[in-house]
Amino acid sequence: MLADKKILLIISGGIAAYKSLDLIRRLRERQVGVVPVLTRAAEEFVTPLTVSALAGVKVYRDLFDLTDEAEMGHIELSRAADLVVVAPATADLMAKMAGGHANDLATTLLMATDKPVLIAPAMNVKMWEHPATQRNLATLQADGIRVVGPAEGAMACGEFGPGRMSEVPEIIAAIEATFGHGPLSGRHVLVTSGPTHEPIDPVRYIANRSSGAQGTAIAAALRDLGARVSFITGPASVPPPAGVDVIPVETAAEMEKAVAAALPADAAIFAAAVADWRVDNAAGQKIKKRAGDVLPTLNFVENPDILATVAQMGEGRPQLVIGFAAETEEVERHATGKRARKGCDWIVANDVSPGTGIMGGTENAVTLITADGAETWPRLSKVETAARLAARIAETLA
Ligand code: CTP
Repeated sequence: MLADKKILLIISGGIAAYKSLDLIRRLRERQVGVVPVLTRAAEEFVTPLTVSALAGVKVYRDLFDLTDEAEMGHIELSRAADLVVVAPATADLMAKMAGGHANDLATTLLMATDKPVLIAPAMNVKMWEHPATQRNLATLQADGIRVVGPAEGAMACGEFGPGRMSEVPEIIAAIEATFGHGPLSGRHVLVTSGPTHEPIDPVRYIANRSSGAQGTAIAAALRDLGARVSFITGPASVPPPAGVDVIPVETAAEMEKAVAAALPADAAIFAAAVADWRVDNAAGQKIKKRAGDVLPTLNFVENPDILATVAQMGEGRPQLVIGFAAETEEVERHATGKRARKGCDWIVANDVSPGTGIMGGTENAVTLITADGAETWPRLSKVETAARLAARIAETLA
């Protein structure tokens, strides 16, 4: 499947660089052309000679190497491959990528490339969990960068947790997914995300605190598994991911129409925080404040329940319909009731009480409610929660 593809492999400076040597061998076994690039720190872990011998070609190391520029300019180098893989991707390189730095060969190639980029992060568990790394990860995902891992387990530094670079077979599977051979390739998945804005008059609206971060991460994770994603988003505060079909909407009514237009789909994930009510008597002109006047009264009407409509639609219903439940108390009981009421297959429930920092934050702690009962997941970043959910969706649709 990968035969004759060309991969630009950037190796940055982490202990996991030794696994990249095996990655080169396994890719070459599959007739993949590997063009290696080493950062200066990477040379502390693996030698250019070893990398070059395994890849069977010269290794690129220096942005200002004039011989390299005469043979092949760095812009050309960044575009000659079908895919750019960064393995291992250190916390430092991820930060530079998220910030758009271009001060050495690796970062310049990453800025100049017009090809898909896949990173395999590897770092100490605390560095991985650090809010700065998680922020950078979310930025990179939104920029369309694909991510494999990290895995969880014992680490070279003696600690335990997520941060270990994914094993070579997982990285190869992720590479295959970027070439359209992922477990969800050929599948169409619909994701709703963000808040809705319900107008009061042309300049005022009713909204909620949803940032759209969880829905965005889910869309990116499904894309990374090869799905075609229709991403129907209200006015979110995070940018939509690259590489998905973005359908922007404002109100619940617009979201309902966009969902109907995007069907059929194999799976539908309703991560949007849809306003339950809209203002019935929304004014056509700005409501003016007048001295001594009575205060305006807003009358509410219920919005269509998009999740329930799709979950109960009979013919044309997606094979898997997933709702979210944002609760502030008795999460499992309320979410189990919601699953039955709405008629969906799964509910991803979370506690959004202000003390949890989940709504608008970078982490999530969810309970997955299925026909088999409730399953509590650990508190994870929204990106990791999305990766787990996407993997479960892929397993179920398989
Ligand atoms: N949802 C929807 N359309 C609506 C309201 C909600 O599609 N008009 C979806 C959300 O995207 C989410 C799920 O329904 O997946 C749960 O939404 P929520 O508002 O929490 O559920 P409700 O049934 O309205 O319960 P309550 O507000 O009483 O908690």
